[in-house]
Amino acid sequence: MRADWDRRAKENARYYVDTSRKDWSDDEFFASGELAISQDISTDMTNICQEKDPKQMRILEIGCGAGRLTQALSNIFGEVHAVDVSGEMVAQARSALGGRPGVHLYQNNGCDLSVIPQLEFDFAYSAIVFQHIPSREIIETYVREVHRLLKPGALFKFQVQGYIATDSTPDDTWHGVAYSEPQAREMAERCGFEMRYSYGAGVQYFWLWYFKNA
Ligand SMILES: C[S@@+](CC[C@H](N)C(=O)[O-])C[C@H]1O[C@@H](n2cnc3c(N)ncnc32)[C@H](O)[C@@H]1O
Repeated sequence: MRADWDRRAKENARYYVDTSRKDWSDDEFFASGELAISQDISTDMTNICQEKDPKQMRILEIGCGAGRLTQALSNIFGEVHAVDVSGEMVAQARSALGGRPGVHLYQNNGCDLSVIPQLEFDFAYSAIVFQHIPSREIIETYVREVHRLLKPGALFKFQVQGYIATDSTPDDTWHGVAYSEPQAREMAERCGFEMRYSYGAGVQYFWLWYFKNA
């Protein structure tokens, strides 16, 4: 995964992060992140914040890429810790966001969150990342790792591939494994979460709301 994503990042990181354009300007790229976060996060603050002040919240992002969503998240939340398997992607995120107060960027091993210091998190988020991971075992390891780091009752909101017909092979780091609604619910139960909501079963952007059991 690391070699493939480093290669994509060197070739054209922003294109592989969002394939709707090949020639993103800085402004357009980060505006697309603001738009995504306004749709995924700003409309859902009751579930995400649970009455906390967002500026007092510490949040986790898995698969930050070149920092497109991280920047928008850091405009809302006090502390953002973001990991990515690709050192090239993290370098690009650092060059765009380095020095922003409250932003912490890490290259991780592509499987777990051992790189994150022992901290408790108020919310975790991941978009357009698990849809590329070709292994259920790795995705489930991430879910267990998020469970380890989240406070009881807190939300992990994330997106997986829901289009079951997508072909995936173990070494395909573009087309990840797909989940049905029952598979997503069973994973939540195995990992100590309640899957309270889902949206988009059967399509690419299958969103899951996992609340850590109190
Ligand atoms: C399509 S990009 C999306 C980046 C970011 N979420 C966004 O929407 O702007 C997918 C990102 O996931 C990262 N990634 C892929 N597999 C990963 C894994 N197993 N662990 C951590 N990051 C991974 C890639 O390096 C890449 O930066």
